Formats: sequence, C-alpha cells, structure tokens
Amino acid sequence: MSDKKATLTVDGIDEPIELPVYSGTLGPDVIDVGALTAKGLFTYDPGFVSTAACESQITFIDGGKGILLHRGYPIDQLANQSDYLETCYLLLYGELPNKEEKEKFVSTITKHTMVHEQLARFFQGFRRDAHPMAIMCGVVGALSAFYHDSLDISDESHRQIAAFRLIAKMPTLAAMSYKFSIGQPFMYPDNSMGYAENFLHMMFGNPCEPSNVSPVLSKAMDRIFTLHADHEQNASTSTVRLAGSSGANPFACIAAGIAALWGPSHGGANEAVLEMLEEIGDVYHIDEFVARAKDKNDPFRLMGFGHRVYKNFDPRAKVMKESADEVLAELGIVDDPLLAVAKRLEEIALEDEYFIERKLYPNVDFYSGIILKAMGIPTSMFTVIFAVGRTVGWIAHWHEMISGSYRIGRPRQLYTGYTQRDFKPMDQR
Ligand code: SDX
Repeated sequence: MSDKKATLTVDGIDEPIELPVYSGTLGPDVIDVGALTAKGLFTYDPGFVSTAACESQITFIDGGKGILLHRGYPIDQLANQSDYLETCYLLLYGELPNKEEKEKFVSTITKHTMVHEQLARFFQGFRRDAHPMAIMCGVVGALSAFYHDSLDISDESHRQIAAFRLIAKMPTLAAMSYKFSIGQPFMYPDNSMGYAENFLHMMFGNPCEPSNVSPVLSKAMDRIFTLHADHEQNASTSTVRLAGSSGANPFACIAAGIAALWGPSHGGANEAVLEMLEEIGDVYHIDEFVARAKDKNDPFRLMGFGHRVYKNFDPRAKVMKESADEVLAELGIVDDPLLAVAKRLEEIALEDEYFIERKLYPNVDFYSGIILKAMGIPTSMFTVIFAVGRTVGWIAHWHEMISGSYRIGRPRQLYTGYTQRDFKPMDQR
C-alpha cells in the first residue's frame, strides 16, 4: 500500500472527498473508493473495465507490452521450459518446486485421477449429443455430492484436498464427456502416465488394445494446458471468486467458472475460431469476412481476435502459433488449409486500420484450435480443454481469497427504473 491520495470533488457535495491510492509491485495504482458509499455515491464501471476487484499475487498482465507473468515467471519461459503440473505447483504455492516437492505433488495429483464409480452414471442422464461443456457444468458441480469430507472451506486440509481432486479429476471427467458423446466405454486413468499423456489415453484409448500415446501430442497437450492455466481476473475467474465469496464449496465454484468460460466471448472462442476458419474455407474469402468483422451492422466478429487487456500480441498466442507449426510438422501435416487461412487472416487484419486503431491482435484462442484439431480432438471439446487447463488458476484464486480476509461480493447499480408508485387494480390497467 502507499500514502498516496486522490481528491474527488463532486457537484452538490461541499467538501472534496479524499480517497486512498494504493500501489502494487507492478501495474497501475488503484483508488480505494470505499468511502464513497458514506457520501451517497457509487462508482460506475459496467464490464469492470477500470475496476480492480481484489488484491492478488498470482498473475500479472501488462496488456500494453503483451506480458504475462505467473508468480513473476514469463509465460513463454514456463511453456517452453516447465510443464503443466509444475506450473500448477507454482500457481498454488508461489514458488517453483524443487525435485522432491515436484515428485510429491505429481504423485499426489496422480493418485486422485479416478472418479467415484457412481459418477459414471451421471453421464447416462445426458443425451449423447449433449455439448461436453453442458456435461462438465453438471458433473463438476456434482463432485460436491461425493466429497463431503472436504467441504469445510475454513479447514486448510479440506481446501488442499479439494484442489488436488479438482486438478486431478478434470481430465478424467473431460475424457468421459468425450467418450460418452461417441458411445465408447470410459477409460480409467493409467497412473503410470504423465498428466497430459493420461488425458490423451483416456480420450483416445480403448479397452481392446494398449494405449499408444504419441510423446509429440502429449508434449503439445501439456503445453496447451500450461498456456491456459491462469489469466488474472478474467470473467470465469471473477465468477469463481464471486461464488467463493458466499462460502460456496470449491466444486460448486469451479462449476460456476466452467459455465462462465463457455461463452464465445471468453473460453468458447476457441471453438468459434475453428468454425469461423472452416466457414472462411480458403484465403480467397478472407477479405469478405474481414469486411463483415468491421461492419457495425453485422454481428460477426473475428473470433480469436481482440482482448480486454492485451492491446498488443497475447504472449500465449505467440507460443501457440510456434507450437502449431511444430505439431503439424511433427504430425506430417503440411499446408494445413486452416493454418494457412489463420496466418493470412492474421497478416491482413494486422495491416488493417480498423484492427490497428482498436489494437486488436490474435489472442490465446486464435491458434489453439488448429493444434487441437490436428491432434484429432473434436471442436466441441476445445473449451473443455481450456477448462481443464484453467482449473488450477480458478483454484489458486479461490484459495488466495478464502485463505485471506474477504467479504461476500455484492456490487451495486445505477438504478434508472420507475420511482415508487401504487399498485394498479385490474380494472384500472
Ligand atoms: C479469452 O479476460 C481474459 O483474460 C480472457 C482470456 C483468458 O485467458 O481468460 O484471455 C481468454 O476470453 C480471450 C478472448 C476470446 N474471445 C474472442 O476471441 C471473441 C472475439 N473478441 C471480442 O469479442 C472482444 O475482443 C473481447 C470480448 C475479447 C473483448 O471485448 P471488449 O474488451 O469488451 O472490447 P469491445 O467489445 O468493447 O471492442 C472494442 C472495439 C469495438 O469496436 P468500436 O465499438 O470501438 O467501434 O473493438 C471491436 C468492437 O466492435 N472489436 C472487434 C473484435 N473485438 C473487438 N471487432 C471485430 N472483431 C473482433 N474480434
């Protein structure tokens, strides 16, 4: 904190209002507006464009410079030199684990990958063509019906075991939602495998033959999980924090985060990007779609482009683009038409005044779908995979809030409805 002050003068209020200003280690100062309520004032910030909803030490984003740090470490270094479970440890505990700490953490997560056998029956209640995100909203929320031994959020050991269970079981539930949709039997986790390898084993393995997961795909999948692990106070993380602020159990909070992530403006964009690239079809139709994206009368937007915070390249998109080239080459996929359209679309958009003026760059969702599709993952599973990766970020923020001092989140409003009026009997309406 600091001893800086902001002084606010408001028409109709005699005395200027002095408000404390706090400085973080990085990023903009913040003005504590708590004193405004006593003066009969609220702040007004739809979409929370200029609102710091909390103090946090987990992730920092410099949108202007395209910088993303997890506990101070740049995302490109973590994506290229670390792995997902090590990044999970970092996000949860604040430091990279040493060899012993990492082995213990990986072993703990690995031992929680199985889900209660009764959960498998939940899937039978869904239609086979249910969107996997609809299933995930349901079954993740249902975990709170199975783990009564870890619902006391005031107990640190309960918070820890709930975190381990969620990180460990999300890939299992995600793979189950895919298997259910194609009518294949669920695969049990194979705990001799790594995290991403095990996920691909449960996605594409079958009981009739041994799994043979490509190390190339496992590495790419692990990197995609790492790139999606956390992103400060985005819509789904803010949803998890708000749900958690009422004291709701962690499984219910993560289910709320999954629901918020599903929207096409947020985590649902990766699925929408693939659909857009497939609709564009080839580089000759790009101009038509760019024109539509710029047309205010056309609701079409260039999916995978733009970001509330990044007004420069999303550093995750850069890593994802490099990974797309590597994975497709390693899979022997040359001249992938979707990748060609994506790259040309990026070139055209970044030279177009509309996108330059609005600082619209590719975001994390622009290239991820191309890699996932090349790996054989159906488009409907893209946001589910985003949710698997982001679960650790949601939990880290939930834990940071619950283990500190917090109050229930309860925003106010600018009311522009009717003033008080008397009830009108039917014969007077
Ligand atoms: C994620 O918050 C996070 O951190 C999210 C995330 C994470 O890791 O958690 O990074 C993940 O959600 C990435 C974003 C994925 N969504 C998309 O790719 C969908 C397409 N993008 C947009 O819908 C939009 O850019 C948002 C939702 C991402 C950001 O919306 P904002 O900040 O509210 O910006 P805006 O809608 O006010 O747009 C500002 C201007 C507008 O034009 P004007 O009214 O000023 O003339 O830019 C235009 C918009 O019309 N614009 C676009 C555009 N995005 C913004 N125009 C065409 N195509 C686009 N994609």
